[in-house]
Amino acid sequence: MSDARPRVAIIMGSPNDWKVMQAAEQMLDDLEIGSDARVISAHRTPERLTAFLATAEDDGIEVVIAGAGMAAHLAGVTAAHTMLPVLGVPLPGSDLQGLDALLATVQMPGGIPVATFAIGKAGAKNAALFAAAILARKDDTVRERLAKFREAQSAGVPERPPRD
Ligand code: RP5
Repeated sequence: MSDARPRVAIIMGSPNDWKVMQAAEQMLDDLEIGSDARVISAHRTPERLTAFLATAEDDGIEVVIAGAGMAAHLAGVTAAHTMLPVLGVPLPGSDLQGLDALLATVQMPGGIPVATFAIGKAGAKNAALFAAAILARKDDTVRERLAKFREAQSAGVPERPPRD
């Protein structure tokens, strides 16, 4: 967890989701972007969700990443309660291996958008990178860190496949 002022909220429906969603926190930490991770369930703790969203913007949150599994409605309900951009991460773990959460998150009816990412850790990581890209529009420091991340990523890709 970064010491920087939280600009990105990472919310998840269950403590069991953390093993995947920590990939979002890790990526934000690497970019030195402050985040705040919380367990908030749209159906088990609905009051916690509305209370959090009532002050999130005033508290300095600029983007919300919402991860949930199964009949994943957390991102959609979150988007209904805030004008902040909501990035949804469908989580695996169900008998349907996250396909249920993917469809639930991506299939928002017109009017309340949720940007939906890949199932699992890749989605959590990319949601963090997308949050950084949003912040980078008006923050040159974040933009530079994002550019450096991409440079390092490119440099880390070998030109030839490994041979034994
Ligand atoms: C969702 O239901 C959570 O996001 C979680 O992925 C899934 C199952 O929750 P647990 O029963 O593991 O707490 O709300």
